[in-house]
Amino acid sequence: MNKHLKIKKICCIGAGYVGGPTMAVIADKCPHIKVSVIDKDSSRIKMWNDNNLENLPIYEPGLKEIIKRVRDRNLTFSVENDSYIREADAIFISVNTPIKSTGLGAGQASNLYWVEKCARKIAKSAEGHTIVVEKSTLPVRTAEIIKKILHSSLKNNSSENAPTFSVLSNPEFLAEGTAINDLQNPDRVLIGGEDYSAINSLHEVYSFWVDPKKIITTNLWSSELSKLVANAFLAQRISSINSISQLCETTGANISEVAKAIGSDNRIGNTFLNAGPGFGGSCFKKDILNLVYLCRNFGLSEIADFWEQVIIINNWQQDRIYKIIVEKLFNTVEQKKLVILGFSFKANTNDTRESPAIKIANDLLSEGAKLTIHDPKVSKDQIEKALDNSFKKSKNNALNKQEWVYEKSIYKALENADAIILLTEWDEYKSLNWEIISKHLNSPAWVFDTRLILDENIIIQNGINFWSLGKG
Ligand code: UDX
Repeated sequence: MNKHLKIKKICCIGAGYVGGPTMAVIADKCPHIKVSVIDKDSSRIKMWNDNNLENLPIYEPGLKEIIKRVRDRNLTFSVENDSYIREADAIFISVNTPIKSTGLGAGQASNLYWVEKCARKIAKSAEGHTIVVEKSTLPVRTAEIIKKILHSSLKNNSSENAPTFSVLSNPEFLAEGTAINDLQNPDRVLIGGEDYSAINSLHEVYSFWVDPKKIITTNLWSSELSKLVANAFLAQRISSINSISQLCETTGANISEVAKAIGSDNRIGNTFLNAGPGFGGSCFKKDILNLVYLCRNFGLSEIADFWEQVIIINNWQQDRIYKIIVEKLFNTVEQKKLVILGFSFKANTNDTRESPAIKIANDLLSEGAKLTIHDPKVSKDQIEKALDNSFKKSKNNALNKQEWVYEKSIYKALENADAIILLTEWDEYKSLNWEIISKHLNSPAWVFDTRLILDENIIIQNGINFWSLGKG
């Protein structure tokens, strides 16, 4: 390896889902590196510093144990302060990049407001040579913008001690719920850049715990694009299997059997073939929209249309599930008690971003249903915010916020229900006692299993109607 800067101090801007866990794992694996995570949101920083580790702002299995070991050893969380930027050898940009809601590229392009702000802050405060690492998922060629901002600041600084910068792309592939394991045992680490010395510096940090064979180095644009394409491919598998779920319902095939049969082909592989209510989470939709926007920008309309279809099928699946529920309940859910089991976009996370539950709940509310919502990890406040935001977006005047309640106890939630709609595959839903539940349901009652985790026979034996996704 060439002579390169040894990274001793890292500053991460953004204490969110990516920044927090990533920096915790780097601090844990590299005790010789001082890691500071900074954020403009003081309430979030307060939560990261809370003595009660149950109050960390995000829930990830294994996270609190690491935080216990490293917080105040070589990991600190602080409200934004230039001194951390000044002292850092490497600065990770881990701020959010939501889809633009207005202006050019609205609904598709990422809003780079926060990224640009970070670059300006770094340009203003950094000293010496600083490696700037793009960690947030960004549209391809964002590094170019960061570089331009950093270098334009240099024009006004002719002193000998003027700071210098190298920009790297180091996208995150962690999935929520398994973030810590994904960080500790990644399939690969991707480092894109043009400055080999900077690449080597970051390579060295990861080599403390990652097999060097798994550390892939590429040019900047390949790295940025690979992140978008990885997520697009994963999402595409889900839309593919979800499209087949309806075909199974129509033809009498069974989607689990089909997924098993095709997944046994090594070339296809058996992961990411679970049919469900559609993908959610912060990345898939956003990254595909970015990919589509990029293609359209370059006039590649066939490619844009191809990837856009992945999102169209995802929305269609959610819409389809809501319509099936209404149809089965004699075409009206007005004043009926419908229980939503699971509000997070998948199990083992409290994240509700783009959760299929939001759209499905919203649509049922607009039909006049009375919803009771249960989720083991998502709080009432979060649900309220998610429904409120989606209400604002859809401008759905029929939605009456009063018609849903939050219930912490599953069995209490299910009392007097007309229908139970399972939307997230939480473990506790797999072992429900249907004999007890059936005694407290209205009659006829329905169970809709959109995650294929319930035992159809037991539910039917207890006199409850059952509908499962992808079963003819
Ligand atoms: C994803 C990518 O996996 C990760 O690499 C990237 O960095 C961020 O986006 P995440 O959003 O945390 O991670 O969740 P993931 O486990 O990938 O699931 C995404 C969505 O797809 C969830 O809503 C999940 O329920 C759904 N899904 C997943 C299916 O419906 N079927 C499957 O077979 C797999």
